[in-house]
Amino acid sequence: MKSTMTMTDNTTGKSYEFEIKDATRGPSVVDISSFYAQTGMFTFDNGYTSTASCVSDITFIDGAKGELRYRGKPIEELAKNHTYLETCYLLLNSKLPNKEELNAFDLELRHRSFLHEGLKNLFLTFPSGGHPMAALSAATATLSTFFYSHLNINDENEYQEMARRIVAKMPTIAAFAYRHSIGASFIQPDITKSFTENFLYMLRAYPNGHMHIDPEGERVIKPIEVEALDTIFTLHADHEQNASTSIVRGVASTGAHPYVAISSGISALWGRAHGGANESVIKQLEMIGSVDRVDEFIARAKDPKDEFRLMGFGHRVYKNFDPRAKILKGLQDKLKDELNLDSNLMQIANKIEEIALSDEYFISRKLYPNIDFYSGVILTALQIPKTMFTPIFVIGRTVGWITQWIEFKKDKTTKIARPRQLYLGK
Ligand code: SDX
Repeated sequence: MKSTMTMTDNTTGKSYEFEIKDATRGPSVVDISSFYAQTGMFTFDNGYTSTASCVSDITFIDGAKGELRYRGKPIEELAKNHTYLETCYLLLNSKLPNKEELNAFDLELRHRSFLHEGLKNLFLTFPSGGHPMAALSAATATLSTFFYSHLNINDENEYQEMARRIVAKMPTIAAFAYRHSIGASFIQPDITKSFTENFLYMLRAYPNGHMHIDPEGERVIKPIEVEALDTIFTLHADHEQNASTSIVRGVASTGAHPYVAISSGISALWGRAHGGANESVIKQLEMIGSVDRVDEFIARAKDPKDEFRLMGFGHRVYKNFDPRAKILKGLQDKLKDELNLDSNLMQIANKIEEIALSDEYFISRKLYPNIDFYSGVILTALQIPKTMFTPIFVIGRTVGWITQWIEFKKDKTTKIARPRQLYLGK
């Protein structure tokens, strides 16, 4: 016996029946695919606050409980006990790798991390000082032209190879974009380094590839820095059907190349309401400047007439706390001495959180710190420039986007994404 929901149009007294489909976790759905055919009307859901766009078994979020799972594994366990590469393998293969699988995956990504010499020329066309996010989106779309002719868009083995390739190359694309933006020459990947250490190396090395040696003779890439950044990548790996992932699926639905779908996701992520918030948070903390001015900005955030919003606060799904923010806050406390975190910025952030979490405006709207509220202080301590905060988010999220792209392509029930509208024109 199918579960159904009956809807009655009180203007006509007519009733309509729709099937309810249960989830394995979280809310069930009412299948309204036949709504227009039955009623001659469209449903309307501004910003898709109550709309499920697809069937998925990749990532689960419970906004009320502050729960996040990748392939069923809690984010707390993955962030604490597994590397980002293990998490990538889990997302792509639905299971954590054994030692041999991880070594093979790691080695393949190291060898795939290089960029075609022709692609490097693209970065040179950007003005020095241009925001790296524009270069990431352009370079990723351009990458599709280097892997096009032989692409069999309907072959799953091909998908997995496309996925490993783009995950491997994104740190190099991001590092090249940054190096060009500061007028420095590109540093090629060093395949003797791990995924995350290699990224820091490509950002920081001198043009001859040598690393700066600090007075104690220490190499400037410290294990604690690699561990912190690796955790940040893990926390950003995937997040259900967020705005940029929905864009990736939308481009997948037209049959375009997977790398232009990822490029579209990068463009969508750049906005300050989404992944661009991490850069805006630090700029906002620096603008506030001292804990004495926090009250002034909290008042502005609450003022409906003021455009100002507290960046890094609020989330469409998390209405209790963002588990990723909690992990990052813990990481901040752990690193503050070892990485000499900016105590002033931390004090301002903690003061904002303290006031906001006891203020009716934020409580009534269930506004809590999200992942972007804390990531910036740690990235600043890792000597990552602000313009690279959202590219860091891209590096972490690329595996999620391509995993969602593969799931979309394998699902034979999917259709082209083509919503309708409420027309109020002439
Ligand atoms: C990410 O979706 C994901 O999963 C995204 C992400 C991922 O991993 O992919 O988690 C990553 O994008 C995190 C969010 C980063 N963005 C920010 O930190 C920007 C600041 N936050 C927002 O602009 C906002 O909270 C959103 C965009 C995150 C959520 O927007 P919603 O769900 O559409 O909520 P809304 O804009 O309708 O706000 C509801 C109310 C409004 O007040 P009223 O009109 O009811 O009086 O809350 C207010 C808003 O004005 N509000 C804020 C606020 N966020 C919401 N007021 C002040 N400061 C804020 N930050």
